Amino acid sequence: MSDSSSIESVLHESRMFPPPADFAANAHVKSFEEYKRLYDEAAKDPEAFWAKQAEEIHWFKKWDTVLEWNEPFAKWFVGGELNISYNCLDRHLTTWRKNKAAIIWEGEPGEVRTLTYLQLHRQVSKFANVLKKLGVETGDRVALYMPLVPELAIAMLACARIGATHTVIFGGFSADAIRDRVNDGGCKVIVTADGGYRRGNEIKLKDIVDRAADQCPGVENVIVFRRTSSKVAWKHGRDHWWHELMETVVDDCAAEPLDSEHPLFILYTSGTTGKPKGILHTTGGYISQTAYSMKMVMDLKDEDIYWCTADIGWVTGHSYVVYGPLANGATVFMYEGAPNFPDFDRFWAMIDRHKINILYTAPTAIRAFIKWGEQYPAKHDLSSLRLLGTVGEPINPEAWMWYHEVIGKGRCPIIDTWWQTETGGIMISPFPGATPTVPGTATLPIPGIIVDVVTKSGDPVGPNEGGYLVIKHPWPSMLRTLWGDDERYKQTYWSDIPNCYFAGDGARRDENGYFWIMGRVDDVINVSGHRLGTAEVESALVSHEAVAEAAVVGRPDDLKGQAIAAFVTLEGGRKGNEELKEALRAHVAKEIGALAKPDDIRFTDALPKTRSGKIMRRLLRELATSGTVAGDVTTLEDLSVIEKLREDEE
Ligand code: WTA
Repeated sequence: MSDSSSIESVLHESRMFPPPADFAANAHVKSFEEYKRLYDEAAKDPEAFWAKQAEEIHWFKKWDTVLEWNEPFAKWFVGGELNISYNCLDRHLTTWRKNKAAIIWEGEPGEVRTLTYLQLHRQVSKFANVLKKLGVETGDRVALYMPLVPELAIAMLACARIGATHTVIFGGFSADAIRDRVNDGGCKVIVTADGGYRRGNEIKLKDIVDRAADQCPGVENVIVFRRTSSKVAWKHGRDHWWHELMETVVDDCAAEPLDSEHPLFILYTSGTTGKPKGILHTTGGYISQTAYSMKMVMDLKDEDIYWCTADIGWVTGHSYVVYGPLANGATVFMYEGAPNFPDFDRFWAMIDRHKINILYTAPTAIRAFIKWGEQYPAKHDLSSLRLLGTVGEPINPEAWMWYHEVIGKGRCPIIDTWWQTETGGIMISPFPGATPTVPGTATLPIPGIIVDVVTKSGDPVGPNEGGYLVIKHPWPSMLRTLWGDDERYKQTYWSDIPNCYFAGDGARRDENGYFWIMGRVDDVINVSGHRLGTAEVESALVSHEAVAEAAVVGRPDDLKGQAIAAFVTLEGGRKGNEELKEALRAHVAKEIGALAKPDDIRFTDALPKTRSGKIMRRLLRELATSGTVAGDVTTLEDLSVIEKLREDEE
């Protein structure tokens, strides 16, 4: 991160969408005044506010102290005892929800499975007994490397039931990535499957685990769920079939009362140094904030069928596929496979087939849908949808408008939710019945969350001035530390700006106080002394009708310090040429000013992304600077994208 100079904001967006009256009338929070009242009250006493939300959770023993804050270490609901699996399952069984669908799952080949709360409870209890039988105890770690099948949620809830800490490893990671995570976490057991389906192909998960497990001395047992029935190698004594173990146990397993600060899960994110960071989340605070935000931000109702398209391997899947929704007794839709299998309309066909009401997805997916074309959503009835959400990257206003018009038909509010693996739950987002939305901004923090935009020395910046996005008061679902490395936790999040958690993002607040995320501060481009965030320049490019997606990076320039290099993908079927490059430069100059005009523009079929869909500007920066990519590419989703860009360079 460089000096104290702030980031300049150049984007202007004035379209405002108030919540539709009929939506607001039925929402949990019905007006902006009501949101404001909640927010102001919570800001005066965040502890009292969160204690009230925690009352919605079932506690075996109530807490003594709401918050113990020993910066930067937090303990929430100290002395309390609870169990998240109990909160997600058992407490619904004494209500009418007993026979409500908890999970409706569709496999990529097309089969559908439904699990009611009672059925899910039974499976979870059995699998908890399986884990116990294999010697897993409270406090042990279990790694889960599975396709997106209900058994992944079952395994998570089973771990939570007995107090084992799970670490879910996304099914796209390599054997080396599994080995590093399993060894760092000290996992005793790996739960996997023979394979999983992706775009019509089988991914042989068990083979990958075999390669990893040989280098994981602590792993005593590997449990294999049968998904594809393909042939797998077998290590007797270590490997067990899920279905065989499940036959050996009873379906009764009491949920263990756990301390509020008991470790629920570790989720690894890639650090800049290559060594993955194990983000640690605990129990009482995590479930209080995810359950509250799920209900209020998603305006969740019992009648809804809700679909968050994230893989469970990411934090979004933990908080808003599994724990947040099930704690609220929701019906969750889950889909195993790719959005373009067997055809580009798969998502829209499923929304129609299952009459999905709430859709929560990522800007990267929305930009892909735009590229594929409107004819695919047009083939299906999307009238069941009532709310749309996004998370993961800044959403370009153009993509927001497309989502609003083509998918939401102008009827559905959009919640642009800002948060991180580290924050555990949503931090900044509209309340859909209350907050007027503007394309491209996550709007305002949820009640109980105190965020600000400041300079390097911690002073608030003025309206529309860019700066560092910080969190100023501990929040219940915050990470507690990095697994086994308190020092790195302090250094990474609490050392840049005095008394603040610094999230790594640049942002500005507009004249309404709305927060605009301007991109990662590591990606800021310095043109002739003007510091520009990537999001604004990219949004200007994407607002041109020919552009589907854009990434901009800085490369050294003798005259200006840095020049702007843009990588651009075009809408379906369009071809790039010199004329279009000129048109795009002129367009950016018109939208935000000559200063932000890209010096180089390169057309490409695809941008390099992480496996969770974020553009990897670091690699593009390297490419634009040196013409090649030598840095770490292990988190890259598709290596061929970089190879292709590199060839174009030569
Ligand atoms: C970015 C995902 C703009 C941001 C839950 C953050 C966003 C990082 C938004 C965390 C949003 C996430 N608008 N940027 N609505 N949501 N980000 O850990 O840079 O995968 O710091 O967590 O994604 O990504 P992570």
